[in-house]
Amino acid sequence: MKTVIEDMRTGLREEGIQQAGEIIKRGGLVAFPTETVYGLGANALDPEASRKIYAAKGRPSDNPLIVHIAEWEALDFIVQDIPEAARKLGEAFWPGPLTMIFARRETVPLATTGGLETVAVRMPDHPVALGLIRAGGGYIAAPSANTSGRPSPTRAQHVLEDMDGVIDMIIDGGEVGIGLESTIVDFTEDVPVILRPGYINQEMIQRVIGEVEMDQALIGEDSSVRPKAPGMKYRHYAPKAQLYIVEGNQEDVRRKIDELAEREERQGRKAGVIVTEESVPFYRHGILKVIGSRGDELSISRHLFGILREFDEMDVQVIYSEAFHTPHMGQAIMNRLLKAAGHQIIKT
Ligand code: TXA
Ligand code: MG
Repeated sequence: MKTVIEDMRTGLREEGIQQAGEIIKRGGLVAFPTETVYGLGANALDPEASRKIYAAKGRPSDNPLIVHIAEWEALDFIVQDIPEAARKLGEAFWPGPLTMIFARRETVPLATTGGLETVAVRMPDHPVALGLIRAGGGYIAAPSANTSGRPSPTRAQHVLEDMDGVIDMIIDGGEVGIGLESTIVDFTEDVPVILRPGYINQEMIQRVIGEVEMDQALIGEDSSVRPKAPGMKYRHYAPKAQLYIVEGNQEDVRRKIDELAEREERQGRKAGVIVTEESVPFYRHGILKVIGSRGDELSISRHLFGILREFDEMDVQVIYSEAFHTPHMGQAIMNRLLKAAGHQIIKT
C-alpha cells in the first residue's frame, strides 16, 4: 500500500480533509495530529476498521481504543449515561487532552473497546483532528500512531517511520503541542479515578469535580497491582539502550551523570544524556540531548518521546536522564520516563 502524506503544517486544507474523511468512511486508516500525540484513526463504529488498527500497530486485541468525537451531541449515541461530574469535567476541558470512560452502548463494537463494556471518549483540541472526525462520520477510534511498544509519535516523521506502506494516509500537522497522551478519567466507578496522568493534572480535576482518586497501579511501586487501563500494563516506550533516571538535588545529579557518562566513555561505550537547557554547561561527557527548559514544562513533555526515538537511531548503549518533577506536568512526564526506564532509578 502507498501511504499518502497530506501537508497541513500551515493549517487545515478542506480538500485533503474530505479525502481523508472518505478513506475513514471506506474503512481505511488515516494518521492525524492532535494536541497530545499523533493518532491512528479508523471508523470507531466499524469492527473491521478497528481490527485494522490492531493489525497495523501489532497491538494486543484486549487493549481498547479511544473514540474521538467533535461535538457533545455525538456522545449520547455511544454511551449509556453521562454522570454529572463527567459533564462538568468535559465542559471545563473539552475539546482538550482529557479522555473519559463511560458505560458503552451497543453502537460501539467490542472490537473497538477491546471486549470491554465501557468506552473511552475524547474530544481533541486540534482543528485538523476535529475536521477529520466530522468528515469521517463523527466517530474515530484512534490510539497513538506508533508501532506497539515504541514511543508515541509527536511528529509526522515518527508516524512515517512506523507506518509507511501500512496505512492509507498521514496528515502532517507539524510538531504537536503537548507530546504526552491525554489524561484518562474513569467515571464507571463510585468515585472517579485517574487511570493515566497527562496535561490535565489531579489538582485541575479536583478543582472542577471535587473527589478524584489515582489508580493504585500508578501510585505504588507494587507491580502486582493491575492497572485498570489495559494499555498501562505494557512496558511502553522502551528504548533499545538501558535507560537510568538519576534523582537528587540538581548539583549532585549533574555531577553523578557526568561521572557515569565518563566511565562509559572510558570503557569505549556510547552514553546518551538527557538534560535541560539550564544544565548543559555542567556536562563534559556523553552525547547530550537537550529536552527543553525547566521554566517551560511543555518543552520537556513535547520532546521526551522524540528524544527516545533519536537515541534509538544512534545506538547508544546506555542513557542517563535527569528527573523532571516539574510542578504542573511532573507526574505525567515521570510516569512515561519511569516506564521507559523500566523503573531503573539511581539516587544520588
Ligand atoms: O492523547 C491520547 O489519548 C492519544 C491521542 C491519539 O488521542 N491516544 C492514545 O491512545 O493515547 P492509546 O490507545 O495509545 O492509549 C489509550 C489508553 C490505553 O492505555 C487503553 O488501555 C486505555 O486508554 N483505555 C481505552 N479504553 C479504555 C477503557 N474502556 N477502559 C480502560 N482503559 C481504556
Ligand atoms: Mg499508545
